[in-house]
Amino acid sequence: MAAPDAFAHLARYYDPIMSHVNYDRWFSCTLALAELAPAPFRHVDTGCGTGVLVNMLRQAGWQSAGIDLSAAMVSAGRRARGSLPLAVADLRALPFNNSLGFITCLFDSLNFLLEERELRQAIHEFARALCPGGLLYFDIVTERMVTLHFAGQEWDEDNGGFQSSWTSVYNRATACAETRVRINTGAETLIRERIYPHALLENMLRDFGLTVLAVYDAERWRRPTRHTTRIDFIAMKQPPRNVNRQFKEVTKHVRTLLES
Ligand SMILES: C[S@@+](CC[C@H](N)C(=O)[O-])C[C@H]1O[C@@H](n2cnc3c(N)ncnc32)[C@H](O)[C@@H]1O
Repeated sequence: MAAPDAFAHLARYYDPIMSHVNYDRWFSCTLALAELAPAPFRHVDTGCGTGVLVNMLRQAGWQSAGIDLSAAMVSAGRRARGSLPLAVADLRALPFNNSLGFITCLFDSLNFLLEERELRQAIHEFARALCPGGLLYFDIVTERMVTLHFAGQEWDEDNGGFQSSWTSVYNRATACAETRVRINTGAETLIRERIYPHALLENMLRDFGLTVLAVYDAERWRRPTRHTTRIDFIAMKQPPRNVNRQFKEVTKHVRTLLES
């Protein structure tokens, strides 16, 4: 039996709730990184949610598509943005083989995988789906993010037209955060995320033959520190010889954007 859709109740409220989120940063980084992908390339955003990034990229002329586990999120995305190419699929079993030039997986979608073996499966699938020279860009949130902004907190938000009520707990022993959100007086949504050390992910990327180009604090594109709340990972399958030089240029460009 299929697992229940975690976003069944929340999906149609997702976009207004996330209206403060800086999608421009992911958009700019994705555009900058595309310099490294083999041209022409197929791009798929995995864990795409309601397709915000896919939509931005398509408006910029890309042929991007998105996949997400939640049928409710995909439907909400299609309703909000017309006929976007979004499909329901599991990033632990991607329907692509050796064919994608660029995969993104952003806004902590990988933290939704609660078992280490699921994370391994996802990285394995990314590596399998990429073509030679294909690029992978994903992020995860850190324990710092959870303890600073969520753990042990209770708050209400006025989302213009509806109210959302939030409570969040974090269990350090299991590294799992549980956030409950209720829209007005409706049903409660439980969002569960697990925090993973970045070294674990780096090792997994290497285990599946990917070359790690960078592990950066997402807001500065510099080495993560104990203050880092979100980490960007950039990896490539069978990179060309000059990739490090090219990547240095991309890093310089992105740092300029982030600092401006
Ligand atoms: C915080 S949302 C981010 C959505 C989107 N990337 C964005 O920027 O708005 C996390 C998303 O990951 C999706 N997700 C979680 N587990 C997944 C899986 N195994 N396969 C595909 N998507 C998954 C959820 O359904 C949800 O839409």
